Amino acid sequence: MLIKVIYCVFCLRLSASIELSNYSFPKDFVFGVASSSYQIEGATYEDGKGENIWDYNLHRKPEIVFDGTNGDVACDSYHKWEEDISLIKNLGANFYRFSIAWPRILPSCNVGAKINKKGIEHYDKFINGLLSKGITPMVTMYHWDLPQCLEEMGGWMNASIVDDFLIYANILFEAYGDRVKHWITFNEPFQVCEYGYSGTEMAPFRNLTGVGGYNCSHHLLLAHGRTYRHYEKKFKPIQKGKVGFAVNSGWFEPKEDTEEDRRSSERVMQFSYGWYMHPVVLGNYPSVMIDRVDAISAEENYPVSRLPKFTKEEIDMLRGSFDFLGVNHYSTAQTKFSDNFHRPSFGYDCGVAPYTNPDWATSTTLPGLQMVPWGFRRLMKWIKDQYNNPPMYVTENGWATGAGLEDNERVRYITQYLSELLKAIHEDGCNVIGYAYWTILDNFEWLSGFSTKFGLVQVDFQASNRTRTPRKSYEVYKKIISSRKVIV
Ligand code: NOJ
Repeated sequence: MLIKVIYCVFCLRLSASIELSNYSFPKDFVFGVASSSYQIEGATYEDGKGENIWDYNLHRKPEIVFDGTNGDVACDSYHKWEEDISLIKNLGANFYRFSIAWPRILPSCNVGAKINKKGIEHYDKFINGLLSKGITPMVTMYHWDLPQCLEEMGGWMNASIVDDFLIYANILFEAYGDRVKHWITFNEPFQVCEYGYSGTEMAPFRNLTGVGGYNCSHHLLLAHGRTYRHYEKKFKPIQKGKVGFAVNSGWFEPKEDTEEDRRSSERVMQFSYGWYMHPVVLGNYPSVMIDRVDAISAEENYPVSRLPKFTKEEIDMLRGSFDFLGVNHYSTAQTKFSDNFHRPSFGYDCGVAPYTNPDWATSTTLPGLQMVPWGFRRLMKWIKDQYNNPPMYVTENGWATGAGLEDNERVRYITQYLSELLKAIHEDGCNVIGYAYWTILDNFEWLSGFSTKFGLVQVDFQASNRTRTPRKSYEVYKKIISSRKVIV
């Protein structure tokens, strides 16, 4: 353990010697911070909110979470929202990406279920609060807190959820679209579906390996496309807002410089980012994915492919269903071909094993998170080349540490990643128009509970008022925002 810590300190020193870029951020480039409802709000059963899939599961099996905690109170942002807005304002951020809790708006799921007025009012106040301080709201409609009653009808495995989502989205456009001009339908569909429906890393922990992820994603993509078209037709001409989609992607670097490793790196990019972005930009799943899952399903004796098919109309509806792409990026891994997976599974279908590199600095609280700034630049360039340089926001990027205010590792991460982003913009010509650091406050980090911290601001979870104290990284990010250059 000690050896590991010394080694990591050494790695951080190594990465600290990377030179920071001298470029400035373009004139219209915007800076922000991001968060999500379940991770910060608390007030789980207040003001008529319905139960979500995390409430339901974590109340029944607290041991699922590393430290046995849950989001019942979290940062108590439902009550402390004015203080949060002041922190964002003082940072100088141009925009705040936050999510709306679906079960606060529609607590029950029966036909004829009523809109919860108190839920509507809460976000109304919040959005007005942001605007009164000159902060642009960027709203995520779905950041993982599905109403439990919908999960009981099959959740994202049931095609009828597409209509349910559309009803919910329509309520949000009607209630807030006069003031909200940046919408994100979904956050990280891979994590929702592959972790939540194929696996057991995320609620609802369905464990339907090799099948759940594909079905869930298919419905989620259709919900995205239909919502985009609905907004385009009914609201966009008047409200003039933009609708995007936030997809997570690591960068995958070939482990060795061989043709096979290069192919595996490209394949995993197509199976992760491409799984979602191909349909949204080009209309259908990447061909490598269709070919492999179709062939492997046939070999496994499935009567039809485990990867569902879009109809011609659905392809036309999905193609181009975005005004901007959201990119959530944290880390890089190395890749090599592998068929050492159980079947059926996404892993076997993709046929690639990821590796961490012991020479790269690793987060002491999240072992899969490595500090590889150049991987960020390569990812942005890859997206530019694949999708004809779409407008992109980095909708999340951040580093996890333990407690403490002198967060030098996070400072290193932010300055080096932003330096690489500047090179992606100025030298590679990537059309990146904004960046949001994840996250403003330490918060409930899913199965890690409160054990790992991503915040620019430390939160004391033992204190009943959840005291907030800005860290060193908060001051550094503030300087970057005001100078529009990466300076420490
Ligand atoms: C991605 C997710 O959107 C967010 O909820 C999570 O906290 C961060 N990554 C960090 O793991």
